[in-house]
Amino acid sequence: MRLSGKHIILGLTGSIAAYKAAYLLRGLIKEGADVQVVMTPAAKEFITPVTMSVLSGKPVASDFFSLSDGSWHSHVDMGQWADLMLIAPATAATMGKMAHGVCDNLLITTYLSAKCPVMIAPSMDLDMFQHPANRANLEILRSFGNLIIEPGEGVLASGLHGKGRMEEPENIVEEVIQFFNQKKKLLNKHFLVTAGPTYEKIDPVRFIGNYSSGKMGYAIANELADSGARVTIVSGPVHIRTVNPEISIIPVQSAGEMLEQCLQIFSHTDGAVMCAAVADFTPESVSEIKVKRGNDNLNIQLKPTNDIAEALGKMKTKNQLLIGFALETNDELNNAFHKLQRKSLDFIVLNSMNDPGAGFEVDTNKITIIDKDNNPTFFELKSKSKVATDIVARIISEMEQKACQ
Ligand code: CTP
Repeated sequence: MRLSGKHIILGLTGSIAAYKAAYLLRGLIKEGADVQVVMTPAAKEFITPVTMSVLSGKPVASDFFSLSDGSWHSHVDMGQWADLMLIAPATAATMGKMAHGVCDNLLITTYLSAKCPVMIAPSMDLDMFQHPANRANLEILRSFGNLIIEPGEGVLASGLHGKGRMEEPENIVEEVIQFFNQKKKLLNKHFLVTAGPTYEKIDPVRFIGNYSSGKMGYAIANELADSGARVTIVSGPVHIRTVNPEISIIPVQSAGEMLEQCLQIFSHTDGAVMCAAVADFTPESVSEIKVKRGNDNLNIQLKPTNDIAEALGKMKTKNQLLIGFALETNDELNNAFHKLQRKSLDFIVLNSMNDPGAGFEVDTNKITIIDKDNNPTFFELKSKSKVATDIVARIISEMEQKACQ
């Protein structure tokens, strides 16, 4: 099943091709997709919500709230849930509304809320399809990054012959599968990711640690795995579980253990993403017994830990990629760029502690990616999983550049 685990919103609009949406839905379900159908009021004139809800196994969303019990259909939740929004068939009217943000039904509000890619399969008569208004709307939708599944040529419902028929359901299913496969740009690649904090032991019951939750590192590992890579996370102590079969986890406690594991693994990989908040200092000696309370101050002598990223930077071959993070409080861009140089990184992801919503223990992050030529790319505040998507997109483009060199 080539779509298993994929969440797809199937949007239906008022076109005669809506009858084919039942076959399309069956095709998606057969491939393992989890499909939520959203219908415009006009779509219901062509195919019943009952058909679509029976085939999808869940109620169809069509109105902003249910007339029977007043419960609200959250277009925002649907938009966040989906990996793909597929609008098939898409009428000229719906495409016009999408292009201009005219939110007069649940399908359009869902479209505007959706963070996922959008595929559109237009369906209309040939003259409507060719009309400059429709062509202009298609261009606007393309400029938003929406993918258009070109309609086919043939006999249309009007009896005329030409371009405007919605692509056949089985071909749309194949396009959807191909779309998800294209995401597999890191197939046969292996990445090392460091994540979480390190704990530096003081005595059998105490340690020096930090607030890192590991969420950013695990989100990057998930995104790398979704792109087809095998991932090894060398992870400090965190409370995150992952069940992705492409991800293996090597748990460690201290900076020293993390270094040891990374040195063993790195040369077998295509690259490493250094996400861990590694302690910079560790106690010079660890007490074998619990340190007892006394009346005097307790002084713990600390020594610097080894810089893991810097060590990997020295080992790095020209085909390997090394990415680091920088958490800064002041002179952020300069400090981050110097870190990139010192550690021989291909790019560095800067987090500023001055940005609200960025940093430890939160689910959001705001990053700037700085490359080897000191060019910064600024990103908005996003969820850590969306930030991971941006970082992995950059990794893919760097890998492609390396392959061309
Ligand atoms: N890093 C590492 N090993 C260390 C310290 C840091 O691998 N011992 C990595 C981090 O995972 C991160 C990058 O180096 O990718 C920068 O970490 P950061 O703590 O911001 O910088 P430091 O080099 O420790 O410098 P400072 O704390 O002085 O800002």
